[in-house]
Amino acid sequence: MSKLSAERPIGVFDSGIGGLTVFSELARRMPEENLIYFGDTAHVPYGSKSKDAVTRFSLAIARYLTSKGIKLLVVACNTSSALALPELKKALKIPVVGVIEPGARAAAAATRVGRVAVIGTEATIRSGAYVSALKTQSPGIRARALSCPLFVPLVEEGWWDRRVTLDVAREYLSPLKGSGIDALILGCTHYPLLKRTLTKVMGSRVKLIDSAEQTASETAELLDELKLKRSGGPGWRTFYASDAPDRFLRIARLLGIKAKSVKLHSFDA
Ligand code: DGL
Repeated sequence: MSKLSAERPIGVFDSGIGGLTVFSELARRMPEENLIYFGDTAHVPYGSKSKDAVTRFSLAIARYLTSKGIKLLVVACNTSSALALPELKKALKIPVVGVIEPGARAAAAATRVGRVAVIGTEATIRSGAYVSALKTQSPGIRARALSCPLFVPLVEEGWWDRRVTLDVAREYLSPLKGSGIDALILGCTHYPLLKRTLTKVMGSRVKLIDSAEQTASETAELLDELKLKRSGGPGWRTFYASDAPDRFLRIARLLGIKAKSVKLHSFDA
C-alpha cells in the first residue's frame, strides 16, 4: 500500500449510468480527487444476470481500471457489490469499497422502530446481501426485501416523475404500505432518481436511504486513514463506457455531470 501515491485516481464503476449518482457524491465530497468512471453499457443490466456473469464483468473492469493506476476501487453498483465484492477484494491489491455495507449502516442508524425495507434488482435481492448486512449492523432489526425490475428501464427512459412510474411504484411497494417500516433503502444506483415518486407512495415519514452519500463519506475516511488523500486543486475526471459512449455522455449531462467526453473501451469477459 505504501507505494500508492495520493495523486493516483479513484476508480468507480457501474453496469451503466446509475453509478453516476455515487460518482457525483464522491466528486462533491472530494473535489480534489482524480476520478475515473467506467460504465459497462455493453452489458447493462446486471440485475437480471447470473453471479458468474456479473463477477466476470466486474473483474474485467477492475483489471482495466487497475491498469490505469487507481489507488482505490468503488463498486458503485449494488448488483456487483452484492454478487462480486468478495472476488474483487480477493483479486485486487488495492482497497475495494462496495455500496451495500454503507447503505445498511446508514439504514440501521436511521431507523427508530427497527423496521427497514430494501428495494433493488432481482439479483441484489435474491443474494440476500442487504438483509445480512443489516443483521450484522443490528441483529434485532426486521428487514424486508423487494425487487423492482421495471424501475431501471423507467429511469433510463428519463421517466422519473411520470404517471406510469408512480403507478408501477404503487404496485411494487404495496406490500410495504402499513408494514410499519420507517426506512427504505434504495438498493440500486438508479433509484435515487425516483426519490420524489417514492416519497409520494411511501409518505414523508419513511426515510429514503441513498447509499451514495454514506459510501462517499466512508471512502473519504478510508483514504484519510491510509494517508492516500490527495490535496491541492480540483482533480480531473475521465469517463469510459463499454458501448455507445455518445448516449452515455448525453445521459450523464442530463444528470448534471460536467463530462467533456466519454471514451470507448469494449471488452470480452
Ligand atoms: N447498477 C445496477 C444496480 O445498482 C442497476 C442496473 C443494472 O441492473 O445493471 O444494481
